Amino acid sequence: MLTREKNELLTRVGPGQPAGELLRRYWHPVCPVQELSSEQPTRFVRILGEDLVLFLDKSGRAGLIQDHCSNRGASLLYGRVEERGIACAYHGWLYDTQGSCLETPAEPADSNFYLTVRIRAYPVQRFVGLYWAYLGPEPAPVIPKYDVWVRKDGRRDITVHPRLDCNWLHPQPRRGERATTSSEPDPDGL
Ligand code: FES
Repeated sequence: MLTREKNELLTRVGPGQPAGELLRRYWHPVCPVQELSSEQPTRFVRILGEDLVLFLDKSGRAGLIQDHCSNRGASLLYGRVEERGIACAYHGWLYDTQGSCLETPAEPADSNFYLTVRIRAYPVQRFVGLYWAYLGPEPAPVIPKYDVWVRKDGRRDITVHPRLDCNWLHPQPRRGERATTSSEPDPDGL
């Protein structure tokens, strides 16, 4: 039986927590590729205690940024994707996949204010039919190409569980809830 202190040490995964800092050294799968598209270009992601938005811009780039806009805090989940990034639904501030602000439409035309604005953004990679995120310090490691992930002589299933109300160490599916499994052809061809 874990002591309360050890349980806290292992299960607190926000920024600055020991377990959070350790888990930030790894890539984490955050969304099946099929669940992000031009029809559904944004998804809310809660990982390692951070509320984030995964989006696909109209140039096909995936980004993972903080949920709340740095202007008045509107959720970027409801943003409008454009060629260069995602524009906040409230006052239109436009962010790219790196978290740089590219436009602040209400400012005077000659204003460089947008250059001073940045939001949290994390690297995203597409691999074996999933989007992966890395929330740790740069440089990001390479996603390991384990043989069972990249071999071509079988079928790959991706199973998505409903949200679990628990920490990462004690997953318990809620009674009556079922995971969904997809065995469609791998969109990455790996
Ligand atoms: S709250 Fe996002 S632009 Fe104002």
